[in-house]
Amino acid sequence: MAPFRDEAQEHLLESAPENGHHGGVKIEVRDLTKVSDKDVRILNKVNLDIPRGVIMGVIGPSGSGKSTFLRALNRLWEPASGSVLLDGVDICELDVLSLRRKVGMLFQLPVLFEGTVADNVRYGPQLRGKKLSDGEVHKLLALADLDSSFYGKSGGELSVGQAQRVALARTLANEPEVLLLDEPTSALDPISTQNIEDVLVRLKKDRGMTIVMVSHSIKQIQRIADVVCLLVNGEIVEILEPNQLSEAKHPMAQTFLQLS
Ligand SMILES: Nc1ncnc2c1ncn2[C@@H]1O[C@H](COP(=O)(O)OP(=O)(O)O)[C@@H](O)[C@H]1O
Ligand SMILES: [Mg+2]
Repeated sequence: MAPFRDEAQEHLLESAPENGHHGGVKIEVRDLTKVSDKDVRILNKVNLDIPRGVIMGVIGPSGSGKSTFLRALNRLWEPASGSVLLDGVDICELDVLSLRRKVGMLFQLPVLFEGTVADNVRYGPQLRGKKLSDGEVHKLLALADLDSSFYGKSGGELSVGQAQRVALARTLANEPEVLLLDEPTSALDPISTQNIEDVLVRLKKDRGMTIVMVSHSIKQIQRIADVVCLLVNGEIVEILEPNQLSEAKHPMAQTFLQLS
């Protein structure tokens, strides 16, 4: 039977965002598997829907595959085709550089390029032949909670926390829709950590950004995440709301939560 749609439904579909047909899901992960050279399963048939415009936390014991999982989402390794979809499109079908602009990533330790903070922020757009104005650079710095005094500083003059915010501004210059964060604050002091957390929450609220963050801090997850997935031995064993973490049922999950 042909699907029936009334006019109101048609209108809703048409007025939905560009890829509204995929509902609220930004990234779909389907049977994502990675086997190491030594035939060890690092990720084992991971299935997950990452909702649009939320902060999803990823936690789990070290070695459970969190970084490997995150790195598949912007093809830092090549997942099997059809196993990661962005707005319903197989990421393997996309140009890898434009995918990485759409799906930006930050690591535990920021690596700044030579030159000034402004040079770093201009880097991505420059690769595409676009020169950001001073005003645009200042806006991006402000977005990452850096005042205008940072504009001309060099990487060597910055604390790790400041450098991480510059790395964030540099990523934001590519106007990403998704941010992947791999323990972005684990090398930072509590104040810098809070700065980054505030920026992430603002990006979600003001820009509807989708954020996937690996963290070993349960407290951090509870402060900012909307949903948490627990990865153990390359498998997602639970998906929970942050305030339900103590109710996780998997035995490894319990151990992990008690120790962290
Ligand atoms: N490219 C690789 N080749 C072989 N083994 C890897 C590779 N990358 C990660 N591993 C292994 O996969 C497991 C998961 O690693 P990782 O994703 O870094 O875990 P986590 O981030 O949760 O600590 C570890 O046992 C690690 O040694
Ligand atoms: Mg890791």
